[in-house]
Amino acid sequence: MSVYRNIYERSLEQPEVFWAEAAQALHWERPWTRVLDAEKAPFYRWFEGGRLNTCFNAVDRHVASGRGAQAAIVYDSPLTGTTRSISYAELRDLVARCAGMLVRHGVRQGDRVIVYMPMVPEAVVAMLACARIGAVHSVVFGGFAAHELATRIDDAKPVLVVSASCGIEPGRIVPYKPLLDAAIDQARHKPRHCIVLQRPQAAAALQPGRDRDWAEALAEAHPVDCVPVDATDPLYILYTSGTTGQPKGIVRDNGGHAAALLWTMRHIYGVQPGEVFWAASDVGWVVGHSYIVYGPLLNGNTTILYEGKPVGTPDPGAFWRVISQHAVKVLFTAPTAFRAIRKEDPEGQHIRRYDLSGFRALFLAGERCDPDTLLWAEAQLGVPVIDHWWQTETGWAICANPLGVELLPVKPGSPTLPMPGYDVRVLDDEGHEVAPGQMGAIVVRLPLPPGCLPTLWNADDRYRQAYLARYPGYYLTGDAGYRDDDGYLFIMSRIDDVINVAGHRLSTGAIEEVLAGHKDVAECAVIGVADELKGELPLGLVVLKAGVDRPEAELARELVQKVRDEIGPVAAFKLVAVVRRLPKTRSGKILRGTMKKIADRSEWKMPATIEDPAVLDEVTAALRRLGYAAAAT
Ligand code: COA
Ligand code: AMP
Repeated sequence: MSVYRNIYERSLEQPEVFWAEAAQALHWERPWTRVLDAEKAPFYRWFEGGRLNTCFNAVDRHVASGRGAQAAIVYDSPLTGTTRSISYAELRDLVARCAGMLVRHGVRQGDRVIVYMPMVPEAVVAMLACARIGAVHSVVFGGFAAHELATRIDDAKPVLVVSASCGIEPGRIVPYKPLLDAAIDQARHKPRHCIVLQRPQAAAALQPGRDRDWAEALAEAHPVDCVPVDATDPLYILYTSGTTGQPKGIVRDNGGHAAALLWTMRHIYGVQPGEVFWAASDVGWVVGHSYIVYGPLLNGNTTILYEGKPVGTPDPGAFWRVISQHAVKVLFTAPTAFRAIRKEDPEGQHIRRYDLSGFRALFLAGERCDPDTLLWAEAQLGVPVIDHWWQTETGWAICANPLGVELLPVKPGSPTLPMPGYDVRVLDDEGHEVAPGQMGAIVVRLPLPPGCLPTLWNADDRYRQAYLARYPGYYLTGDAGYRDDDGYLFIMSRIDDVINVAGHRLSTGAIEEVLAGHKDVAECAVIGVADELKGELPLGLVVLKAGVDRPEAELARELVQKVRDEIGPVAAFKLVAVVRRLPKTRSGKILRGTMKKIADRSEWKMPATIEDPAVLDEVTAALRRLGYAAAAT
């Protein structure tokens, strides 16, 4: 039996033994009394009774064991022309002082703190400082607009917000403070304080009494120690797109999260303490939480914090420059980044400008990895290229190729096999397992392994409804796909209204809510259409209210701006057309799937339940105007 198979089977047969062993690698203030508490099933708790501190395990523990002088974070920012290395000892001091600053501003154990920051070391320091005092951080991605931030403020009810004066995108400065001020104006809940990092690229106006300057407040603060918390206490909330405009607050606990992530660093990514690991993502996404911040630091690695893009900062050799300059062993990014690099450097000439001899493996996730991109990366880099599949909810890979255990044969298009603790099944509509090769809903038998969401923030019922109700006893991943004869999973599509744009998860339902809010729009539908670079792009079809007659281009401009203002530039919403009617079934359901197939030039059949087939002709013409759907014959 393969080593992987042995480990995997043991994790399912003896989950408590397996995860207790993994958790031994951490420092516990008090050991757990029960590894898995299933008393309130389907709500499960890992390491019940145990007490630990995640920040201690990620930072202080390494200083105590002699890693104080090793770089914990290397901040590399081609956008500002800065590189800065922070050792574990320096990080501990910064985090301890930042934690003192939070306490001084009224943050107590269990309180929430929103972190709305660009890719600067202070974002990581703020996250760890929350962990240090048992406060719950909720990081909001900088590409979201004020309205999205307001929704999160109202749900998390933070005592305090940590932010920065600006983010930096190629060619433009993005002032964050006006967005934060607007969000607080819109929100019903008002945080008591905002602590704002003033970056030299733009100064933020501070509101006396409420706002504090980061540097000043930090200078006044005294360092504080780590506070042990229950393993089951929340470490953070990370909001992600669901089917509506109300995002889901994914909760992560302390004990299970730390144990699982530490296990993954060695066994999935194959990195040893002291080595350099780089996740080219953003701290606002789950990849950033797990693999820029917690995973590598828990494992005593040096983590790279990269404020730049794969291309244009300054060229498609940016990733290779960072890998060679900082001796990166393993890189993790989204396939879209590689598609962008390949487009500008198809022959890989920039790759050969750098010494990549120490580079061992590339991991890709966040969206489906097309085999073409995987094969190109493999050929250019000459190292294993590993697609792995996971989601914000799970916090770490459901399926992967465990490089640190053994490299299994790679099948392009498949994220390989399930990781420990994930009993993955493919079910039909009735809940029966389907045969190899047949598509179905991908589910995981409960309990989920440690590190996965125990529930949604203040929304146990929504958790049940969204994930557990469809197939009792199973967690619904929301993805559809199939298994081949060797058990390899192929993740093909979502079964809900979630789309994936440049590795960013978006809700078509949320975009529809914004469009429907326009005064002239009677009805609308948003679909994700295939895009060569970003994987998918949102496309909106709108029906105007009776009597409204406006030029399509003018209305489109307004709608694009509205989505940008309310959801944010990250939605990349640029495609919109006006139609007289939307195609529907006789019971009134909009045929989004059929429209998507037409747009993508996939094979499609006229749905038997369609109310009026002629509507599809007009929709097809609208899609053609936007450059989609097959040309008219
Ligand atoms: N703050 C403010 N604006 C942001 C932002 C941030 N943190 N991140 C992105 N945006 C803006 C961009 O500037 C862009 O604005 P524009 O419409 O004015 O051009 C818009 O949001 C869309 O951004 P993006 O989807 O990133 O597209 P891009 O054209 O700027 O770059 C790629 C394309 C492929 C280079 C880029 O998407 C990329 O690097 N993707 C990697 C994905 C990734 O890391 N995913 C995380 C999961 S692993
Ligand atoms: P997020 O929660 O933003 O990480 O998005 C998770 C979703 O992205 C998953 O449910 C999938 O739909 C998709 N996804 C992530 N990784 C992969 C992958 N390797 N292959 C296919 N789809 C993926």
